[in-house]
Amino acid sequence: MGEPQAILVPLNRSAIFLVVTVHEGGEDGVRDLLADVTGLTRSVGFRVPADRLTCVTSIGSAAWDRLFGGPRPAALHPFEELRGDRHCAPATPGDLLFHLTAATTAACFELAGKLVERLSGFAEIVDHTVGFGYFEQRDLLGFVDGTENPTGAAAYSAALVGAEDPDFAGGSYVIVQKYLHAMADWRALSVGEQERVIGRTKLDDFELADQAPDSHVAMNSLTDAAGVARQILRANMPFGDVATGEYGTYYIAYAADPDVTETMLRRMFLGTDGAAAGHDRILDFSTAVTGTLFFTPPVEFLDNPPPPADVVPAPSAPARVADGSLGIGSLR
Ligand code: HEM
Repeated sequence: MGEPQAILVPLNRSAIFLVVTVHEGGEDGVRDLLADVTGLTRSVGFRVPADRLTCVTSIGSAAWDRLFGGPRPAALHPFEELRGDRHCAPATPGDLLFHLTAATTAACFELAGKLVERLSGFAEIVDHTVGFGYFEQRDLLGFVDGTENPTGAAAYSAALVGAEDPDFAGGSYVIVQKYLHAMADWRALSVGEQERVIGRTKLDDFELADQAPDSHVAMNSLTDAAGVARQILRANMPFGDVATGEYGTYYIAYAADPDVTETMLRRMFLGTDGAAAGHDRILDFSTAVTGTLFFTPPVEFLDNPPPPADVVPAPSAPARVADGSLGIGSLR
């Protein structure tokens, strides 16, 4: 398995999310940057080791063939819009996702600035979101978010591609969505009502024994035919702007198989099979305004991205043949 990017790291306090589209003709400049992201992250992060700066770089479906030759990740495809009776999950543009995390915004800011500088002229930033750790890992609805994430070996198998796609083992599929919360409506609910929406207690974060079928937890607790849990690895972050009243959750989930996240989304927006629940109640207080799917290649791929097939490699020094000569015969 290739070495994964920094997906399986504990949640940190700050994040910056950059979603980028690549200009026509900007592919070479972007590929040069991709090969340098590991080094740039090291340069910024080594000065502030306590900040544990990470940058996870992911590539969208349409951009993949423009940027790289060779095989494609088997399950890479564009995010599919979902239109339910009441709520919609839009699909929005995005060729690259940079997911930066650190203990301080300063470290994320410094690296994000470098990335944007290097993208200039080659690509456009279509979304820039600054996430912050709120009290006790809570989202802005006031609930602790991330508790039931898999850990240890379960996190590896939930998040990382394995032997089913050997060219890309160690990679991951990531889906992001920006949600805006209707805070006045949410605050109008009693704590007991809010707990029924989420499926956990608010103050101390225990799962409710008696789950409503349309609670967020019930909608997202999946098992396969053998009864084994189908899991994803989430790293959601609150974001907001008090001046404009924007209170949001940046949803981000890594998965070995994007169908797991997509099945959760279908249940949330379109309802469960047999319509025991029409939609996830969290959506009555949360509107998705973006939605994009990317593949997160392993580190070696990112550090040496293969050029598209139609690019003829620059002439290099003549290859040496097995006898150690230049293989061009006698110079006499
Ligand atoms: C659980 C918040 C969107 C999948 C939770 C929990 C909270 C939460 C508070 C309970 C604690 C925990 O286990 O983390 C939110 C918010 C969202 C959001 C505020 C955006 C408005 C989503 C989406 C998905 C998802 C879009 C999937 C596509 C899950 C899963 C769990 C969970 C799998 C764990 C369920 C379990 O096994 O108990 N979320 N979530 N969430 N959420 Fe979300």
